[in-house]
Amino acid sequence: MSEYNKTLMITGGAGFIGSHLVRLFVNKYPAYRIINLDALTYAGNLENLRDVESAPNYIFEKGDITDQDAMDELFNRYNFDAVIHLAAESHVDRSIADPLAFVKTNVVGTCTLLNVGRKHWSGKEEGKLFYHVSTDEVFGSLGKEGYFTESSPYDPRSPYSASKAASDHFVMAYHHTYGLPTIISNCSNNYGSHHFPEKLIPLMINNIKTNRPLPVYGKGENVRDWLYVDDHALAIDLIFHKGRIGEKYNIGGFNEWKNIDIVHLLCSIMDKKLGRPPGESAKLISFVKDRPGHDMRYAIDPTKLNKELGWKPSLQFEEGLEKTVDWYLQNEIWVKQVTSGEYQHYYEKQYHK
Ligand code: NAD
Ligand code: TYD
Repeated sequence: MSEYNKTLMITGGAGFIGSHLVRLFVNKYPAYRIINLDALTYAGNLENLRDVESAPNYIFEKGDITDQDAMDELFNRYNFDAVIHLAAESHVDRSIADPLAFVKTNVVGTCTLLNVGRKHWSGKEEGKLFYHVSTDEVFGSLGKEGYFTESSPYDPRSPYSASKAASDHFVMAYHHTYGLPTIISNCSNNYGSHHFPEKLIPLMINNIKTNRPLPVYGKGENVRDWLYVDDHALAIDLIFHKGRIGEKYNIGGFNEWKNIDIVHLLCSIMDKKLGRPPGESAKLISFVKDRPGHDMRYAIDPTKLNKELGWKPSLQFEEGLEKTVDWYLQNEIWVKQVTSGEYQHYYEKQYHK
C-alpha cells in the first residue's frame, strides 16, 4: 500500500500559476503525491518552487506534453489518479509571432495528454479526473456591456485564444465520446509573484524600476479583469475537490481595469516605494502601436462558482498589487535571471521593430 491516498500530476507546475498551485497542494495535502511535469521552456523556472522542492510528497519530472511515449511512461510509473493541466504557451504577443508553437503545445500537447489519460483510465474512470485549466480569452472580446458566462459562445480572436479554445473543445470531446472524467475552468487575467515579465503588470514594474519606457498598446483603453494568482489556485483547489464532472466553471473577481489606469496606479505605488516625486514614473508612459486584433474587454461572471461551491476572491486589487510590487522589488535576482538570455531577443523584436 502506498503511503499516499492520491497521486496527482500537475503540468506546467514550474510556470507562473502552476508554481502557486503546486505550492498550495504540496503544503495543504501531505497525503497527496504531487508530480510536477514541466518542459522548462523560457517560462518555466524551478526557482519558483525552491521552498517546496525537498517536500517528501513532491517530485519534479522534466518532460514535454507533446511526447506521447514520455507521457505514457509517466502514467505507467505513477498510476495517476488525476491530472491538473496547466502546461501551455501563454503569451498572446508570442502567439502572433509564432502561432504554430501554440498549436503544438496547446492543441497537440493537450490531445496527447487526453489520449494517454484515456488509454490508462479506460474502464477505470471512477475517482479519476482530468482537470483542464483554461482562459476567459476563448470567449473573445466584449463591448462595454456584458460578461462571459459558462454558456457564452466561443469566439477566440488571437492564435493563443484559438489554441486554448481548441484544447477546451478536445477536452469536452473526450468527455462526451470516451467518457473521460473532465472539468474545465476558464479564468480571467492573473497577477502576482513569479509572473514572467513579458506580461503587462510585471513588465511595467520592471520598466518603472529600471527607468525604461512603459509601452502601452494603442490608447490603453482595453479592459482586463484581474485576479490574484493565489485566489485562482484556491478556486482550482475547490473545483478539483467539489466540482461536477463534465462541467465548466468561470473564475473571476469582478475586477475590471483599463490598462492605462493600471499603469498609472503602478507608477504611483512605485513612486512611493522608490522615493521618487509623485508623477515621476508616469513620465515614462509611452503609447505604442496597438496589438493586432487586440481584444477590447474581458469580464467574467463567476456566479456559478460562487453559488455552487461558495468561492469568492480573498484580496482587493490595490492590496494584491502592492504585495506584487513588493515581491518584485525584493526579488531582483529572479527578475535578472529570467530576463537575461532569450527574453532579451524577444524584447528587442517585440518593442523595437
Ligand atoms: P506560464 O507561461 O507562466 O507557464 C507555462 C508553463 O508550462 C511553463 O512552466 C512552461 O515551461 C510549461 N510548458 C510549456 N510548454 C510545455 C510543454 N510542451 N510541455 C510541458 N510543459 C510545458 O503560464 P501561466 O500564466 O502560468 O498559465 C498557466 C495556464 O493557465 C495556461 O494553460 C494558461 O492558458 C492558463 N491561464 C492563464 C492565465 C493568466 O493570466 N496567466 C489566465 C487564465 C488561464
Ligand atoms: P497581457 O499581460 O499580455 O495579457 P492578455 O493579453 O492575455 O490579456 O496584456 C494585458 C493587457 O495589457 C492587454 O490589453 C495588452 C496590454 N499590454 C500593453 O499595453 N503593453 C504591453 O507591453 C503588454 C505586454 C500588454
